Amino acid sequence: MDETHGQIEEMQSAIVLQRLTKLFGPTPSDVLPFVHQGLDKNKIFNEHGHVLALRDISLKIETGKVQIIMGLSGSGKSTLLRHINRLIEPSAGRILIRGRDVLSLDKQELRKFRQHQISMVFQRFALLPHRTIQDNVAFGLSAQKATSSAQRETANTWVHKVGLGGYENSFPAQLSGGMQQRVGLARALATGAECLLMDEPFSALDPLIRTEMQDLLLELQSELGKTIIFVTHDPDEAVRLGDNIAILKDGELIQHGAPMQILTSPKNDYIRTFIQDVNRGRVVSVGTIANGETKTCDGPDIVATTPLAEAARLLTNHPDVSARVVTEKGHPLGSVTLTSVVEAMAAR
Ligand SMILES: Nc1ncnc2c1ncn2[C@@H]1O[C@H](COP(=O)(O)OP(=O)(O)O)[C@@H](O)[C@H]1O
Ligand SMILES: [Mg+2]
Repeated sequence: MDETHGQIEEMQSAIVLQRLTKLFGPTPSDVLPFVHQGLDKNKIFNEHGHVLALRDISLKIETGKVQIIMGLSGSGKSTLLRHINRLIEPSAGRILIRGRDVLSLDKQELRKFRQHQISMVFQRFALLPHRTIQDNVAFGLSAQKATSSAQRETANTWVHKVGLGGYENSFPAQLSGGMQQRVGLARALATGAECLLMDEPFSALDPLIRTEMQDLLLELQSELGKTIIFVTHDPDEAVRLGDNIAILKDGELIQHGAPMQILTSPKNDYIRTFIQDVNRGRVVSVGTIANGETKTCDGPDIVATTPLAEAARLLTNHPDVSARVVTEKGHPLGSVTLTSVVEAMAAR
């Protein structure tokens, strides 16, 4: 890659993490050399009394996309997220936001940055119990010095956008969990920040409500195009919401890529185990399994980017035929049958 190309790529990335390492403990700089020597997390804890939460993470997060951070409990997801708005300071490494080093911000710049550029949605909603829904949504705005009527108007717009019109004057305790998280989302969006940090925001919700919230987020995102960093330990949620997925294990970045890439070429057994029960039909495209000659095909043509589940639906009434898989321009790539599509959907 030449230098200009590299710089352009850097600018397209909303957020760049460079060799980020985090040690929790009294004297991280003394222990850092052992991290660089490759000592594992357990030894660093047992022999040096520090918790290695992140090891040498480099990651480019694209502007306007949903970046998932996935991993088991304790793998470092929240720690990574909290570095982005500097709730946590790294032991080593850098965090660039639109090319700007977050660590170089002074107190006042940091306050401004948190008020305008970045907002956070928490798992436990973190609503103010004695304030109305409207006031909760307006909360981030009061710091922005907007007039109170402008604040109220902005807040109401977002209350409606998340489907809570009519609840402006209710209090959090009067709302269900799902509704409370809608408030959390509205509050984060109302600030107009271009980047949202979401730490397992839907994990505490019942499955049905959770799916509803995922739908809402996808709907809003298709309109807003925010840069969203979304932490989850749920692989189904990750492939559903993510444009890209970064998978952590014990503070290390194991794999980073588009959902389909991870589902079709998991890097190791940890990733394979993690994703084994994911519904592939929605994510993996039929082009990945097309093979063989296409001259004797007697079924409908299917475009290569069609998800497997959709291909299966197209072939349901043609159980015995083989269908050509073609590029957008109609160039044949190979063939599939209903059986091969269904097998791929069930593959692990
Ligand atoms: N303030 C802290 N002090 C000491 N250790 C911490 C602190 N916060 C997190 N850790 C440790 O860092 C590791 C990563 O934690 P965390 O980022 O919370 O993981 P996750 O969000 O993936 O569950 C864990 O081993 C955790 O115990
Ligand atoms: Mg966490």
